[in-house]
Amino acid sequence: MLIEVHHASVNFGEVRYLGFQRAGAVLGYDAAGYVVRAAADGTGPTVGERVVAFGAGAWAQRAAFGTDSVATVPAELDLAAAAALPLVGITALRTLRAAGPVAGRRVLVTGASGGVGRLAVQLARLGGGHVIASVGSAQRGAGLRELGAGEVVVGLDAVGEPVDVVLECLGGAHLVAAWNLLRPGGTLQSIGWASNEPAVFPPNSIFALGPAKTLQSFGDATNPGPDLTTLVGLATRGAVCVPVGWQGSWTRIHEAIDALLGRQILGKAVIDIPQVNGGTVVG
Ligand SMILES: NC(=O)c1ccc[n+]([C@@H]2O[C@H](COP(=O)([O-])OP(=O)(O)OC[C@H]3O[C@@H](n4cnc5c(N)ncnc54)[C@H](OP(=O)(O)O)[C@@H]3O)[C@@H](O)[C@H]2O)c1
Repeated sequence: MLIEVHHASVNFGEVRYLGFQRAGAVLGYDAAGYVVRAAADGTGPTVGERVVAFGAGAWAQRAAFGTDSVATVPAELDLAAAAALPLVGITALRTLRAAGPVAGRRVLVTGASGGVGRLAVQLARLGGGHVIASVGSAQRGAGLRELGAGEVVVGLDAVGEPVDVVLECLGGAHLVAAWNLLRPGGTLQSIGWASNEPAVFPPNSIFALGPAKTLQSFGDATNPGPDLTTLVGLATRGAVCVPVGWQGSWTRIHEAIDALLGRQILGKAVIDIPQVNGGTVVG
């Protein structure tokens, strides 16, 4: 299906790892807009429907996606907010699921000020967890208590008791410190490596008495449609607040990138994409 893209996300990984893209590649993964051509096999949303999509090539006025990679967006949800959801929302949702039930458990989220972090805090709280949100400064923690964090800490030395689950976004020394905070039987989901620092585990630091501690990688972007539908539903009924911290025209994308890499955005950056001749679909 072909989508007229009105808004797209700018994600940390997309800009940090630009060098891995081939020259001329259309960048971006999160798009929201209107269907201008339905899928040839007759499945999926029809022409004129508001949709959000996850897949390569999102920073474009028009982009093609498989029908397994889209969700329809109800009129009550802002399309720009929908565009902020896919990559970070799917990541937070799937890593939480992989960690198992969190009701009554202590869940540590590192890099909680960012896009994945702000979604993870809310979803873990919705699941009944006690959420400890770790951020780089008190200022970067703004709004996290309102999103459901029971504690907001600056640095992991401030975490008083062991935790059952870690959603880890920073890598390096944070990953090692978070592992040390994990209870026997607990699970650490290694999501990202924003610090770009090596992680050094001292001898025997992986050893733990009792049930095994687990460290899992994450990188599963398959069949995103059903999870996108779940996230859109949660956002539409206000169960999660979509954390858009920066929004502006795609002609200002350099500002969004600088702010994202400079750790100045609380949550997500969303670019608005103007349409040629105003577009074919009236939004
Ligand atoms: N595995 C996957 O499939 C997957 C999917 C999505 C994202 N990711 C990765 O997960 C991480 C988080 O993604 P995101 O979209 O939430 O990014 P984000 O919005 O930029 O948030 C990342 C947070 O990390 C902290 N940070 C940034 N640069 C840092 C540095 N040099 N040293 C220490 N802390 C730093 C910042 O928090 P403070 O300013 O509060 O310190 C920032 O808020 C990224 O590494 C991303 O590539 C992986």
